[in-house]
Amino acid sequence: MKALLFFASLGFVAAENGLKGWLRYESLPCSSQCRRNLPSGIVALNATETSPVYVAGLELQEGLKDIYGSHAQITHSQCETDSVVVGTIDQYRQTCGRMDEPPELDEDGFWLSTSGQGVQILGQNERGALYGAFEYLSMLAQGNFSEVAYSTNPSAPVRWVNQWDNMDGSIERGYGGESIFFKDGGIVNDLSRAAQYARLLASIRINAVVVNNVNANATTLTPQNIEGLGRIADVFRPYGVQLGISLNFATPQILGGLSTYDPLNKCVIQWWTNVTAQIYKRVPDMAGYLVKADSEGEPGPETYNRTLAQGANLFAKALQPYGGIVMFRAFVYNQLNESNWKADRAKAAVDFFKPLDGKFEENVIVQIKYGPIDFQVREPTSPLFANLFHTNTALEVEVTQEYLGQQSHLLYLPPLWKTVMDFDLRVERQPSVVRDIYTGKRFNRKLGGSAAVVNVGTNATWLGSHLSMSNLYAYGRLAWDPTEDAQEILEDWIRLTFGLDNKVLQTLTRMSMESWPAYENYSGNLGIQTLTDILYTHYGPNPASQDNNGWGQWTRANHKTIGMDRTVSKGTGYTGQYPAEVAAIYENLDTTPDNLVLWFHHVNYTHRLHSGKTVIQHFYDAHYEGAVTAQTFLTQWESLEGKVDPERYEDIRRRLDYQTGHSIVWRDAIVNFYHNLSRIPDEMKRVGNHAWRVEAEDMDLTGYETYVVSPFETASGSMAIVTNSNSTTGTATTTLDFPSGVYDLAINYYDLYGGVSQWEVYLNNRTIGHWIGNNEHTLSHTPSIYLDGHSATRINFRGVQVNQGDVLKIVGTPNGIEPAPLDYISVLPPGTVD
Ligand code: GCU
Repeated sequence: MKALLFFASLGFVAAENGLKGWLRYESLPCSSQCRRNLPSGIVALNATETSPVYVAGLELQEGLKDIYGSHAQITHSQCETDSVVVGTIDQYRQTCGRMDEPPELDEDGFWLSTSGQGVQILGQNERGALYGAFEYLSMLAQGNFSEVAYSTNPSAPVRWVNQWDNMDGSIERGYGGESIFFKDGGIVNDLSRAAQYARLLASIRINAVVVNNVNANATTLTPQNIEGLGRIADVFRPYGVQLGISLNFATPQILGGLSTYDPLNKCVIQWWTNVTAQIYKRVPDMAGYLVKADSEGEPGPETYNRTLAQGANLFAKALQPYGGIVMFRAFVYNQLNESNWKADRAKAAVDFFKPLDGKFEENVIVQIKYGPIDFQVREPTSPLFANLFHTNTALEVEVTQEYLGQQSHLLYLPPLWKTVMDFDLRVERQPSVVRDIYTGKRFNRKLGGSAAVVNVGTNATWLGSHLSMSNLYAYGRLAWDPTEDAQEILEDWIRLTFGLDNKVLQTLTRMSMESWPAYENYSGNLGIQTLTDILYTHYGPNPASQDNNGWGQWTRANHKTIGMDRTVSKGTGYTGQYPAEVAAIYENLDTTPDNLVLWFHHVNYTHRLHSGKTVIQHFYDAHYEGAVTAQTFLTQWESLEGKVDPERYEDIRRRLDYQTGHSIVWRDAIVNFYHNLSRIPDEMKRVGNHAWRVEAEDMDLTGYETYVVSPFETASGSMAIVTNSNSTTGTATTTLDFPSGVYDLAINYYDLYGGVSQWEVYLNNRTIGHWIGNNEHTLSHTPSIYLDGHSATRINFRGVQVNQGDVLKIVGTPNGIEPAPLDYISVLPPGTVD
């Protein structure tokens, strides 16, 4: 033990793969205050091994041992005064006697007291007691021995996560490996990761997981799979986490063999009643169903001219005898025609759901994405929150970074979520902050809460990258208390995940807090949406993909103007879906905030923003600034070398290095696209001017040929080179004409799915670097089989001595379908970003 403490005090940490997340409980030195305060024993007021209170006892024992090397024994029946006592209020009364002033607790709430002789952790229920144990351990793990005595209650009863796992083991929009629940159409045998997931979730007070994709497979409900789901529920239960299930609306027909799935048909009702009974027989505490109906091709009640409320109520009634909940998704919209300037997908949710307000059963919650489109880098608050007064609602966010860098870009999401949670919709000119609406306070609803699409997988880091876990941690904290501060939550996560070093704390806090603004800067600005490829991977840039299709994520960009006119006076009328005070702000170009101007208005590129810049100049400037900030993430992180264990340090470093390159891919693609469209020059003359670049297509080529890249803006000069065949190497040579000196060499290439090419770089026939195109195996985002903005990437060789007249040669060896593609070489004086 002594040796361990010694190493901990020197700041060394063992190599870590991320599996323990924020529950890693790094060993800390025990000060005299610590010795005075550490409890000598643990009293867990339930001896049943599968109970959350029993688990809380074990967690406390392990945590105390890991953090402070203290060995506390667990008992279950005697209330020792210098122990930590954990249990429900009722259990405490029974075993330890009367409480003078019992704390006021709601369901899942807890009381934590470290003042007085021992420590008391008392839950309203067992789940609450476990939450309290994790809270106490979180304090200890941060070296916090302050005396506290408080009770805390959840903002809302529903604090769920959604997994988009398919029965074949793949995960829709998942970037952290395969499913921890499913494989080959059934439930995996080894559910140890599912149990570990429940443990992580319990520590952030999440109380249910919907385990299968909203685009649900009817076979989820075969008797064999219900048994398997029961096994998942069994491993969740000791952590107080309940099971939820996504349903396919047509299951009675697909699986049940009925000729219909009409929600008002007696046989259909009976079918759902029966299957629900079977599920509850196996899983008596099942949380409920999640339903995506009449959305993106999923079946629903409209097939039978029934309303969405009739569809939702079908499940609600089947669940009522068991106390289950239906989470019914508001993500319902139709394909639209862009030539109609009144058409607007953003209006769909209110159009569909407002007329149904008050028609849903009491155990239905309408689950609403934060914005009216689809998890974009910036959206206004969904107006549906201001249109349902007699219906329960929940906020839906994405922890998985579908449109936001897919875990290959650093992006701390809570500041984005907060733009919605904290937004005051001013319903009837009264304070109507969104978090008060979905938690039920504003309209006196008993049910409500939040759901996050999380999509962890078998990857040891869970989400596919270490730094993305801050988003999961923060989601839990905000689901419990949406008034919490995004940065304070982050700081707790950093201390728990990377230790107590102040420089690590400061640096990671700064990087994380800068990450969303930076991403917005180098992707889509002013409310135009992310500008990613909405027709393919949702990852890299492709602004043209937004328009000329029926998906309704239009930018309406032409050579003079850009943006959606969503005003009532001239546009789609969307602003009219907001309460009067908010509508008035957005209706008027002068009062619309810059960051949403193109969401609400169709303007000239030369329109002047409140900032004084024109729209187009804002685009240019923001993209250059965003990419510069992304470069600093790498340098900031590199300043922490030696302060973070080598395994995580290097993994994160490699990703941030990738991000430096991909932020430039984004930058160049977007500025080139709009420069080409508008023909308006950049006042700073950066766009199209690359003093330090050599285009691959301008080099002397043997075995390589030029290739016209599409979309054009995802290649410098819109061209790249590929090997003549998939089996012969290519060589590209150039004589460098830069003043002699030390440079950073950046080589832009394409890394495709379906091959691992190799490249070798020589300077005057001396090897200076070698790399392989294996991003598809080492990074988390959806790979691409084309040369495009998803596969475009960069490798950096820093600090290379280059003399004027040196001959630079790159030899590319293709593999599979990947023809060793190259875009350009930058010979950058240190500090230059291009
Ligand atoms: C997005 C996402 C889909 C998902 C859908 C949903 O459109 O790209 O994969 O199915 O949202 O939320 O249902």
